[in-house]
Amino acid sequence: MELAPEQFKRFFPLPVTVITTVDPQGTPNAAPYSCVMPILRPLPLIALASALPRDTLRNIRSGGEFVVNVMGRPSFSAAMKCAKNYPVGVNELAQEGVATTSARKVRPPRIKEAVGWIEARLENEMIGDKYSLVVGHVVCSEMNDAYLQDGQLNELPMTLLMPYFRTGGEIYMKRDDIGVDDPSMQ
Ligand SMILES: Cc1cc2nc3c(=O)[nH]c(=O)nc-3n(C[C@H](O)[C@H](O)[C@H](O)COP(=O)(O)O)c2cc1C
Repeated sequence: MELAPEQFKRFFPLPVTVITTVDPQGTPNAAPYSCVMPILRPLPLIALASALPRDTLRNIRSGGEFVVNVMGRPSFSAAMKCAKNYPVGVNELAQEGVATTSARKVRPPRIKEAVGWIEARLENEMIGDKYSLVVGHVVCSEMNDAYLQDGQLNELPMTLLMPYFRTGGEIYMKRDDIGVDDPSMQ
């Protein structure tokens, strides 16, 4: 089945992460981002693609820091709560009851339930007409001990981290009771 060029995301696996940032007043912001990738294996770099405009992007530019919270299956519901659009200056994590902890090296908080955290400082940005590619220098990466046993994930990565697929339609994840339409992803 040939698809329209932009439809390759129907079969391209993507992670479910939440990017946390803080605004200049120190108020946290959180948004699900799936267009996130490492830049080569040995480099401590991570890239994300952001639509324009985004509060996340504005905060990364002003504060220079962000946390990639890798959510996976256990915290997928928390990730979806962060997709709601609150006015600037509102702590959506607090509004949605998503628990946080302090990051080690940067000001934005971590989401407590995440499988792991990648703390980064803005290194570079490439701006297109409709998107921005943000490159962060990773200053701290940590796996959540809650999901580890003897230093290994206590569940298969396939089910714990659960990249999402659109399975040929607009439902991008369906497993047990989780099935979510994703109107916000272009
Ligand atoms: C699963 C999921 C993945 C998403 N991935 C991205 C992404 O990679 N880039 C992006 O710009 N928006 C993405 N979005 C949309 C934003 O999360 C959404 O527009 C959010 O409200 C933006 O919040 P902000 O303005 O506080 O940054 C995604 C949404 C969902 C539900």
